[in-house]
Amino acid sequence: MAKVLATGGMGYIGSHTVVELIKKGYEVEILDNLYNSKETVLDKIESLTGVRPKFHYVDMLDAEKVDEVFKNGNFTNVIHFAGLKAVGESVEKPLEYYKTNIDGTLNILNSMKKYGVKNIIFSSSATVYGDPHQDTCDESLPTGRELTNPYGKTKFMIEEILKDVCVADKDFSVTLLRYFNPVGNHESGLLGEDPNGIPNNLMPIIMRVAKGDIEELSVFGDDYKTRDGSCIRDYIHVVDLANGHILAMEHEKPGVSIYNLGTGTGTTVFEMINAFEKASGEKLPYKVVGRRAGDLPILTANAEKAERELGWKAEKTVEDAMRDTIKFLRG
Ligand code: NAD
Ligand code: UFG
Repeated sequence: MAKVLATGGMGYIGSHTVVELIKKGYEVEILDNLYNSKETVLDKIESLTGVRPKFHYVDMLDAEKVDEVFKNGNFTNVIHFAGLKAVGESVEKPLEYYKTNIDGTLNILNSMKKYGVKNIIFSSSATVYGDPHQDTCDESLPTGRELTNPYGKTKFMIEEILKDVCVADKDFSVTLLRYFNPVGNHESGLLGEDPNGIPNNLMPIIMRVAKGDIEELSVFGDDYKTRDGSCIRDYIHVVDLANGHILAMEHEKPGVSIYNLGTGTGTTVFEMINAFEKASGEKLPYKVVGRRAGDLPILTANAEKAERELGWKAEKTVEDAMRDTIKFLRG
């Protein structure tokens, strides 16, 4: 049975994936420096699964400590979630983003090489498609073009690094999972997205507005050529996403495999607001402001490859995500 190291496993997507892995009977250890997460996540994982995974409080930039984790781990698989992920911040602090995301990944890969760990799943992003000049992306589209921020560039660069590692080692297995827009949380309401600092993404901002921490949501533009003028995205429930990792791990094979993880269905910002209001029974204060630089009007996934090859399909809806989010918010 696989033994998995989840880097960034205390974070939003990582913690949900760790729960699903443990539920399936996999042994998991976590490496995380709690830059964007809290140690209490471990208690929550334990209360949802009955298992408290071993936690390594380690910065992946510390190559020696990363090596220590691998030395004693006997891992068969790595799922690499750890990294910095705020698009706007990456424009302000490019060097931090390149250092953490790229150097951190190199440290993980060096330790994997040293200790003979041959399988890695990487948290990539639809952002690698840049501006695809079409509304729906499949995996065959070119990547790395018209990337508008350092965060997106690190995702593209790491994908390329991982492809090169596969060329050099024919036994090495890389799975690139390109997430679209993860939302929602565990249905218990125990685990959820609780970023340190000011959030950038739509759902965490909606949650802060609902809590009264932020006065109102700014809707970035209502003059796009979409059904209600606001941008359309493919919001994927984080538990569906988590299960995608497990199926990807169970289908690992030498070489590079690439999958979009999304629903294939687009939802506008106004539809997200309505869904939240419907699920909560409360009004969500918002105002329409100008467009955000770099936003595409529409971006949705063609996720047929994941369905065909992994047997994975998103099962949950935006309504499920809203219901679970409200449960998490209300504790
Ligand atoms: P998150 O910030 O909740 O989780 C990332 C985890 O990595 C955090 O627990 C953080 O403490 C940890 N970390 C950061 N720097 C570290 C370091 N130097 N050493 C060790 N641990 C470190 O983010 P998330 O939303 O769960 O995203 C997980 C991955 O998925 C990231 O790589 C992100 O870029 C990618 N991704 C996220 C989204 C999204 O919208 N959430 C979309 C596409 C891709
Ligand atoms: N939005 C608002 N107001 C806000 C925040 C967001 O109107 O305060 C809108 C955006 O304009 C966009 C939508 O809500 O139309 C979603 O925005 P997010 O910032 O939540 O997500 P993005 O689609 O911009 O980007 C996200 C991740 C990236 C990833 C990308 C892939 O942040 O890492 O999805 O599609 F690459």
